[in-house]
Amino acid sequence: MKVLVVGGGGREHAICVGLAKSPKVTKLYCAPGNGGIAQVAECLDVKATDIEGMIAAVKAKGIDFVMVAPDDPLALGMVDAMEAAGIRAFGPRKNAAILESSKVFSKGLMKKYGIPTAAYETFDKMDEALAYIEKQGAPIVVKADGLALGKGVVVASTVEEARAAVVDMMQNGKFGASGARVVIEECMTGPEVTVLCFTDGKAIAPMLSSQDHKRAYDNDEGPNTGGMGAICPTPNYTPEIAAVCMEKIFRPTVEAMNKEGRPFKGVLYFGLMLTPQGPKVVEYNARFGDPETQPILSMLETDLLEIFEAVVDERLGELDIKWKSGAAACVVIASGGYPVAYDKGYEITGLDKVPADITVFHAGTALRDGKYVTNGGRVLGVTATADTLAAAIHRAYEGVKLIHFEKAHYRKDIGAKLI
Ligand code: AMP
Ligand code: GLY
Repeated sequence: MKVLVVGGGGREHAICVGLAKSPKVTKLYCAPGNGGIAQVAECLDVKATDIEGMIAAVKAKGIDFVMVAPDDPLALGMVDAMEAAGIRAFGPRKNAAILESSKVFSKGLMKKYGIPTAAYETFDKMDEALAYIEKQGAPIVVKADGLALGKGVVVASTVEEARAAVVDMMQNGKFGASGARVVIEECMTGPEVTVLCFTDGKAIAPMLSSQDHKRAYDNDEGPNTGGMGAICPTPNYTPEIAAVCMEKIFRPTVEAMNKEGRPFKGVLYFGLMLTPQGPKVVEYNARFGDPETQPILSMLETDLLEIFEAVVDERLGELDIKWKSGAAACVVIASGGYPVAYDKGYEITGLDKVPADITVFHAGTALRDGKYVTNGGRVLGVTATADTLAAAIHRAYEGVKLIHFEKAHYRKDIGAKLI
């Protein structure tokens, strides 16, 4: 089978590495891909959001199956367009991807179906949002409604900070149209856990739990990023908590989407907080997380293409998905200055010194004259598996230390609070 992965970050590199292991895959493509992905897939020069261009590429190359990884093509309806063109495609349709692309929708769904989440209000008018903040006090959470690359959320510890966030979003247009509406939420406390589930709208197959590290600097300081590292599985996600999540959150969400006439097929990402009142939803995503996917898929034993096909064909319930024992850790090496302003084009050295048991997923790299150069905010995801979480983290950092580029930045405490 000829398979195409849409996207070009560390997540897509991990998906491509997974698919490349499948004996059923005869040829792997990735669009647009990146320097590292080119080691395992032929990269096609088509933007991830170019739906017409992607369909044309699928037809030209005779591709049999498409996996749409990033949020924006899903929100734009790439899977719907592929299906209409007779192409088998993995990922939610537009009317289901809205679970991620509109926080107003997802919060409304949770309220309607009694799925536990933080109390909230939605605002179109800035003065009303500001008045609400005055009334509620801090800490309080301000979120832009639409997609903002995981950065449209401000957890404000003071009223001043919350007011400034609202003004940035609603008046200064910091997140463009995504900030025209804001959601203001109760601030929850407790450890965060991410659980990604495969679902075909009927069966739900949770992957191993994971934990992302969203802040840019050690000790969870600095601005929110797309994610600076992740570990898998998280020790605090016990079988008891997993059972509660399945009963109160995962199954009700899939069923709610069916009842709304928006069946969800693909990967449903549950960002959870284990609060003193029990697990609550922080956010949904309609796709694999990045970087969570790098450690999670490093632990997968079952053929990834087989899972994707089972989801598309709605026979996920027949599969018994197998995971390795032990743990995995991924440390992101970013460009200095990310997520605000950073330069690209620095040569990356040391990649050839990394031992084979450590996998370096490329997030933002390009190949220039046979050399890898930095080409994004998040550059590499150095990933290792081991018998214990502590050993996996240690091993990933051994890999990190071998790699160099100018102004490289990484967190030194990925997973540290969990061991
Ligand atoms: P989100 O993009 O919604 O996942 O938010 C990004 C991060 O902000 C989350 O991973 C949490 O750390 C934090 N956050 C979001 N909502 C809340 C909340 N209601 N209470 C506390 N922290 C939150
Ligand atoms: N790492 C968070 C996300 O993919 O949304």
